[in-house]
Amino acid sequence: MAKKEIILGMALTDGYGTLKNAWRAPHVNSGNYANIEANIRYAQSAERGRFAFLFTPDFPAVRGDVEHSPVSNILDPMIALTAISQATSHIGFVATGSTTFQEPFNHARQFKALDVLSHGRAGWNAVTTSDPAVAANYGKPVVGRAERYKRALESIQVVEALWGSWKKDAWIKNQQAGRFIDQSKLQPINLYGEHVGSRGPLAIPPSEQGQPVIFTSGGTSPHLLSIAGRHASGFIAEVWTIEEARAQRDLVRRAAQDAGRDPNDIKYFAGLITTVAPSVREGLDRRIEHQGEMLEAHLPHLSGMLGIPLHRSQLDQPLTPEQSSAAHASPGDPRSGIAFKLAREGWTIRDILAHGSIDYHPVTVGPPGVHADHMQEWFKAGAVDGFWLLPDIYEDGVDTFVDEVVPLLVQRRIYPDEYAGSTLRENLGVPEQYGPDPRISRGTQL
Ligand SMILES: Cc1cc2nc3c(=O)[nH]c(=O)nc-3n(C[C@H](O)[C@H](O)[C@H](O)COP(=O)(O)O)c2cc1C
Repeated sequence: MAKKEIILGMALTDGYGTLKNAWRAPHVNSGNYANIEANIRYAQSAERGRFAFLFTPDFPAVRGDVEHSPVSNILDPMIALTAISQATSHIGFVATGSTTFQEPFNHARQFKALDVLSHGRAGWNAVTTSDPAVAANYGKPVVGRAERYKRALESIQVVEALWGSWKKDAWIKNQQAGRFIDQSKLQPINLYGEHVGSRGPLAIPPSEQGQPVIFTSGGTSPHLLSIAGRHASGFIAEVWTIEEARAQRDLVRRAAQDAGRDPNDIKYFAGLITTVAPSVREGLDRRIEHQGEMLEAHLPHLSGMLGIPLHRSQLDQPLTPEQSSAAHASPGDPRSGIAFKLAREGWTIRDILAHGSIDYHPVTVGPPGVHADHMQEWFKAGAVDGFWLLPDIYEDGVDTFVDEVVPLLVQRRIYPDEYAGSTLRENLGVPEQYGPDPRISRGTQL
């Protein structure tokens, strides 16, 4: 049996990093948004650290304050990852693709093509996309959850059928005999549902891992769990505490079991934002320097999380004794407990914010041990199979993580000292699959 070790992925977002002003850092090229060479360097660093995959979230729309901060999206996931695949050899590529706005034939074709030309390193993060700005770009309204997930389920089934429609031994390519393909092994799928369908077949041979690995991401609505349980081998999550992660991971694993699969066949990844620095103080200062006005703007939110009024004039002081005794972790936000703990430790309000207490994912700040401890604790508690990292600034944040944190994880025997193989499936430790998974009941078949 394979050793139980942490699996790492890394988000590729905009070419700069998670900190709001990463794009303005003096050591960062402000043109990285359109600079594939920079993304290739970051991918190569992650590969040096034996990351199993790169993950491209995708919200193809102009959102947020682009007058002052980057368009937080990669130009085009499939095209960027195709370029990166040609400059790397082991790291996998999990690209987000919307089942709501794409036709399954497009997904089947593009992802399998990436899988073939990366020699078995592609994955598809199948999401239903509920963002109105994205919907508007496709000239469509946001539809209800039930309809989105019905279409998603149909799409994934069509995609898997298309992937399997070129049978593994269909390709003869015998020059002497003049036979290219055994056409009896490249047959239509004729699969049509309420929302999508395809005749097929798809004229793409198997890759070294057979076909791309399916991921999904989101919360734990029964709709999403049904998709994850039946079809996903990876689950990209957004969780703040060990308890929350463990409960969510248990649900995801149970969904796989209910679908007739082995729960170990789906790997659960929590997000983690990292600032690696020689000391916590230096890490906090780096985060303060590159967050711009954002930290101060979060003051009212922190006030709500702690249930006490906070004033701008107090930013560089810890809570007063009166505030400390009145403060509590508001139950409405899972991040409140982290903010409350930091407040009790006596950090100034600015530092509580700089710790990332109001961020999209948990944040680890400081020397390598801080990051390794966080990952080890979550992993040993059965809360995750791994993490998808969001470095604070790609330009130096990936290298420092790989050079300083990865060796610690290896030393602690919770991280591989070499890639398990050269395909994404091997590096995730998920089984071979070609075409639809025969273990899945056909109850909700198209
Ligand atoms: C960690 C995480 C990453 C996600 N990445 C994407 C993404 O890249 N693109 C996208 O359209 N939706 C993304 N989503 C959104 C979900 O796919 C889903 O649309 C959203 O959670 C609402 O779906 P629901 O109807 O299941 O609640 C992400 C969600 C989470 C939690």
